[in-house]
Amino acid sequence: MTSEQTFIAVKPDGVQRGLVGEIICRFEKRGYKLAAIKLVTPTQEHLEKHYEDLKDKPFFKGLITYMGSGPVCAMVWEGREAVKVGRQLLGATNPMASQPGTIRGDYAIDVGRNVCHGSDAVESAKKEIDLWFKKEEVNSWKKAEHDWVYEK
Ligand code: CDP
Ligand code: MG
Repeated sequence: MTSEQTFIAVKPDGVQRGLVGEIICRFEKRGYKLAAIKLVTPTQEHLEKHYEDLKDKPFFKGLITYMGSGPVCAMVWEGREAVKVGRQLLGATNPMASQPGTIRGDYAIDVGRNVCHGSDAVESAKKEIDLWFKKEEVNSWKKAEHDWVYEK
């Protein structure tokens, strides 16, 4: 089984709105494995690194303020095509374009309050996991359900 990891975060609005459990649940029930998790209030410097690709966007300043406004639940989820499927579970960036059944499509309205983050590529996932977690915080383990989720 070729497995990959993705960085998923419940943003401050998602934490404040009590959506941590719900978002974890979506990934768990789909069959993904939790490799790392922590609650952290990120600094401005940390967020500027995380979102460095967007630094020239008009919404950048507001995005950094929003993301630093309270605790974020940072996670690493692992499994087959975790990056692509993780983005599907989240829904479109703008919740107004997100399908019902996705996290944003079920729980968000405004693009600037879209409750969750997910890596957009395997390379950016690696970069984000390195930025948010120390090596020893990312667990390598065999989940008991593995052979019931994957045929091979
Ligand atoms: O988060 P995602 O990868 O789906 O989208 P992005 O293009 O990487 O943008 C990062 C975040 O910036 C979004 O999740 C929104 O919270 C915010 N954003 C915004 O406030 N206004 C926009 N027009 C686009 C993005
Ligand atoms: Mg993005």
